[in-house]
Amino acid sequence: MSHQEEKSIGIPEEKLINSRKRVRKHGEVFTPRRIVRKMLDMPAINEASQALTTTFLEPGVGEGVFLVEILNRKLHMVERQYGESLVQYENYSLLALSTLYGIELLEDNVKVCAMNLYQAFYDAYYRQLTKFDRKRKPSVVDSARLIIAKNIVQGDFLKKTSADGYPVVFSEWKATNLEREPRTIMVQRTEYTLPEIEAGIINIDGSVSNPKLKTGQLPLPFLHEDCHQPEMRYLPAKITLVYREEQEQIDG
Ligand SMILES: C[S@@+](CC[C@H](N)C(=O)[O-])C[C@H]1O[C@@H](n2cnc3c(N)ncnc32)[C@H](O)[C@@H]1O
Repeated sequence: MSHQEEKSIGIPEEKLINSRKRVRKHGEVFTPRRIVRKMLDMPAINEASQALTTTFLEPGVGEGVFLVEILNRKLHMVERQYGESLVQYENYSLLALSTLYGIELLEDNVKVCAMNLYQAFYDAYYRQLTKFDRKRKPSVVDSARLIIAKNIVQGDFLKKTSADGYPVVFSEWKATNLEREPRTIMVQRTEYTLPEIEAGIINIDGSVSNPKLKTGQLPLPFLHEDCHQPEMRYLPAKITLVYREEQEQIDG
């Protein structure tokens, strides 16, 4: 479809660059949606982008054009397979959302990316709410917001550090009861630093990452203070309640 045709059917014109300065400094040129769709239409990628639990991590995620398209594909699949019950749709759509990760250097892009993902999630949820003539559940939208906030991280992919200079931390959201095709999904959240992911390290279920302790960058008094904080772990939770971020203290 030509640029002109896209405009004529009401799709907002795409902005592919913000400024020449940002192109020069950060290589910031966004991928046009039609190219994204073509790339994701490649059979292996198309299959993966409709699979419920297949994860995607995009370094230099920009405004999220790839992740939004993948989310839409996953949500269409969820609608087809789990759209008979609103509760089931809510649970499976949150799980689909939890599989998408991005890291981006620039703060404003992170915000736009998070907003675009939330909008895509909410638009699809709204279609289901309309179909079932029901109101949105605050726990579902709050959990969607929390998942996006934890999965779309501001940081430097080359240095593996986040905006505060400590290692980037991502959360794994592992569904623990999927084999029975449940209506409500339980997830175990476990945190990993980016270097841990790259090294293939498997953390104990529920681990709460404290990247400050792993870098040794802090002056000793601060390190000492952090060491005396009780060690915590995330509790298994319904995916619709992950916004509560419930933790418990590890004994000993
Ligand atoms: C070519 S743009 C692509 C954006 C998006 N992936 C897309 O296809 O529309 C590259 C993006 O990477 C970001 N970026 C540049 N250096 C980075 C780094 N070291 N770590 C993370 N993101 C970076 C830029 O801010 C920009 O948003």
